[in-house]
Amino acid sequence: MADAKLLRQQCLDRMEADPRNYFGGLAWLREAFMAIPREHFVPTRVWWPRPGDDGLYKLIDRDKTPNAWLKAVYRLRTPLITQIDDGAVPASGPATGWFTSSISCITVVIEMLRHLAPRPGERILEIGTGTGYSSALLAHRTGPGTVTSIEIDPHIAAHARQRHSALGADVHTITDDGELGHPAAAPYDRIVSMASVRRIPPAWLRQLRPGGVLVVPLDTPFGWDLTVLFTGTGHGTAVGRPVATVEFMRVRGQRGARPHGELGWPADAAPQQWRDYEVRADQDGQLIQFVQRRTPVRP
Ligand SMILES: C[S@@+](CC[C@H](N)C(=O)[O-])C[C@H]1O[C@@H](n2cnc3c(N)ncnc32)[C@H](O)[C@@H]1O
Repeated sequence: MADAKLLRQQCLDRMEADPRNYFGGLAWLREAFMAIPREHFVPTRVWWPRPGDDGLYKLIDRDKTPNAWLKAVYRLRTPLITQIDDGAVPASGPATGWFTSSISCITVVIEMLRHLAPRPGERILEIGTGTGYSSALLAHRTGPGTVTSIEIDPHIAAHARQRHSALGADVHTITDDGELGHPAAAPYDRIVSMASVRRIPPAWLRQLRPGGVLVVPLDTPFGWDLTVLFTGTGHGTAVGRPVATVEFMRVRGQRGARPHGELGWPADAAPQQWRDYEVRADQDGQLIQFVQRRTPVRP
């Protein structure tokens, strides 16, 4: 029988050895990763994210194949699908459809939190609670009463609340449209979205304190998303730089495609130069411009 703690340690060792520098030397992030049992947040039945020869996503059931389930939970670069078609597809067998909720893969979660760089006592807003795993990692760092997380799907939110409570993780999970943020607990020192957007929701910019940090996966014309690290002015504007390539599911309200020109992208945006764009966002929209970096950045 696989051992969760051992699998966690193996994941940590592999990420430490990877040139992508997942933990960035941050001891708190390593500690949080080792302290929070990822398996505690993963539902009993999840879908594998790549289709089989029959075109269906295989269901992995902890009750039937506990070893395979646990190994899947600790696959470094594999998200596990927890909802298809907004819950219209029951988790009772192989299925097909649109992925609408997942537990993001380990490397992506760690990389997002590294860029977010939360500090103890800071007020954090997370959009896209999902299973509750990433918010539990956040709360481990920032402490009691600091993390608000918004999940649009009531069933997914209920699962996360139950899992937080069973683990004693102090996260305030709200069922709402995260694009509106949560003004009641604003301003936030840091906001992180675990679902991607085509356009930065103005509420996030308004609810960020001056100098606050926003980390969000942004749709691009390149066929994948960019994680953009913004600094807010506190007056509804922010300027950001892409820090990583990533793929996320969209927030519900922004699933429909829009021409990238309308979203502030230049017509000649070049994927190989993704690091050299700057994103300016405000209440009226966003502008993405080529601004060559002067200093090399780490991977
Ligand atoms: C990739 S999952 C998040 C994974 C999560 N961070 C975890 O650790 O399990 C994205 C989540 O965003 C949620 N979501 C989509 N649109 C949303 C919105 N407008 N507001 C809040 N949550 C949203 C989805 O229901 C889904 O659960």
